[in-house]
Parts: sequence; structure tokens; C-alpha cells
Amino acid sequence: MSYHGQFPKTRLRRLRHNKNIRDLVKETCLDVSNLVLPLFIRHGSKVKKPIASMPGHFQISVDMLENEIQSISNLDIKNIILFGIPEHKDPLGQDAYSDNGIIQTAIPVIKKIAPHLTIVSDICFCEYTNHGHCGIITTHQSQPDVDNDQTLTLLTKQAVSHAKAGADIIAPSGMIDGMVQAIRSGLDHVGFTHIPILSYSVKYASSMYGPFREAAEGAPQFGDRRTYQMNYTNINEAIRECALDLSEGADMLMVKPAHTYLDVIARVKNTYPELPLGAYHTSGEFAMIKAAAEKGWIDESNTVLEVLTAIRRAGADFIITYYAKEAAAWLLKSKPSKF
Ligand code: PBG
Ligand code: ZN
Repeated sequence: MSYHGQFPKTRLRRLRHNKNIRDLVKETCLDVSNLVLPLFIRHGSKVKKPIASMPGHFQISVDMLENEIQSISNLDIKNIILFGIPEHKDPLGQDAYSDNGIIQTAIPVIKKIAPHLTIVSDICFCEYTNHGHCGIITTHQSQPDVDNDQTLTLLTKQAVSHAKAGADIIAPSGMIDGMVQAIRSGLDHVGFTHIPILSYSVKYASSMYGPFREAAEGAPQFGDRRTYQMNYTNINEAIRECALDLSEGADMLMVKPAHTYLDVIARVKNTYPELPLGAYHTSGEFAMIKAAAEKGWIDESNTVLEVLTAIRRAGADFIITYYAKEAAAWLLKSKPSKF
């Protein structure tokens, strides 16, 4: 029997009838230009060492970068973010601000291979210190902790040194209060007024960084990062972090992690719609999808494109993701179908 009752006037399915209509009303786009690929640069030569918990990712020595950077450019990826694994670690993390440091050596080599690739430089000390914390440690009442203001001086030196080597964007990730202002004035002082600062404004003390700490060899040797990274119970505080970074001159904000913190991304974007916002799809979030896909429990490409689109839909303008290369390839070959 056909339906003779009250006809529903609104039929949202009219807008899903075929692919052209669906595309016409599509609200969120995911493009390779929105993605940033992390790379781990290691000291030594002829090294391309797989990272066990991050399939497809390696620690690469500078002399082995040619092929990797070529393949990144061939996929039309426009942005990379660098993490360094130095030969020597010490309490001050000196390699981080040495003009012969690992990142300072890598940047000119990458620029020569791919001059148009934008290089984001992560500014922090956990990969460079022997204690694995994100700054200098001082002890108060037998409690060792990162000394905020002493760390600012070194972060500024690191940022200036990376900018001198050719970094295009400076991205302080240590959650040290005042880091944006200190770095901004340091950069301006030596004439780098044109270099933008992407602040890891809202970075939570999260379990999602496990694989990264293996990859970058930067796990804290004592304690944890809860005295400087945010408590995952909080979201109002995220707005205070952003406000502070803005007042200090941040050009772009970031929320990290991303997949598990979509509410935070949405809140920051709604509060500061006029500011470019990045989101860091972290190593643990990458590993969870990768592992489920390897077990054959989910479809990898569809899952990844859905998750990355969700992060954009929540309000992120761009995404740092270990899936950048695969996503770039999937986006390139996603064939138009009629229905
Ligand atoms: C270093 C840094 C970390 C990440 C980016 N920069 C690790 C940490 O804070 O422990 C995490 C990246 C990831 O998990 O993908 N400050
Ligand atoms: Zn750090």
C-alpha cells in the first residue's frame, strides 16, 4: 500500500541523490595543501631506521634524505615538520641551538632538494636533553622540574638558530609560559620579522605521544610532563592558553592531540575564528588506525580520510599527520564516480 498520509515536505535525501549534488553541498574539504608531514632526522650516515610503532616512518640521516624528500614533493605535499635526534644529549640540550646541530644541518640539504617545500621547525628540548624533559631542570625542595624562565633563553637561541638555517615556520611545542613572546623578540632582534610562529598553544599531557617518544628518543627519564602540559580534564584553560599566545604574538594556534580532542578544536575555532588553527594528529592516534588496519579490522584509506576530514570539520585549518603521504596519494586517486 502506498503512503497517503501527511507528506513530509523536508527530504534531506534530495541533497544526497547523486555525487554532483553531494559535492555541491559539501561543507568540508580535505586537500593535500592542508597537511603537514612529520620527519625524524637522525645523526650518523646511511641510516634509514624503521620506527617499530609507526609503520612507514623512519629515523633518517641527512645523507639519505634525497629520495625521501623527492617522494614527498612528488606527492605534492607542501609542508613538513622536522624533529631531530642528535648524537649527543646533555642537560642543556646544546645540539638544539648549535649552528652545527642536526636540524641546522638538515634544513639546507632539504632546501636544496626541494626549494619550495615549507619547513616547520619544532622548537623544544626533550629530544636534546639527556633527562628527556622539554627544558632546563632545576630542583626546588628536592622536586626537580622544568625551570620556565631559564628555558625561555634557550628556546630563543634554538629558534634563531633554526631560522638562520632556513626554517620557514617556528613551532614551539614545550608549553613553556612566555615562549612565544621570547621567541618573537629573539627573531625580530636578528631581522627575522617575516618568520611566523605556530604555537602548540593547547597541548595536553596525553598518552597519545607514546610512539613519538620512541621515534624521537625523547621520553622523560624521570617524572612526566604534567607540570607543563595541560590536564586533559580542562577546556576553559585552553582558551586562556590561546589568549596568552595571541597576546605574545602567535601567528597560528594549535591543538594537540586532534582526533581525541575535537571538542577543543571546535571551541578554539569558535572563540578565535579569525586565527589560523592547526591540529596535531598524534603518533598514538596514527598507530591506533594503523594497527586496526593491519589486523584487517577497518578499511585504512576510508578511515583516515574520514578522521582527517572530521578534524577539519571540527575547525582545524591544517593538520600535522603521519598519514600525510598516504592521504596525499589517496586524495590524488579518489576517482569521481557518477553515483
Ligand atoms: C616534543 C613533542 C612531542 C610531540 C611533538 N613534539 C612529544 C611530547 O610532548 O612528549 C608529540 C607528537 C606525537 O605524538 O605525534 N615536545
Ligand atoms: Zn618537548
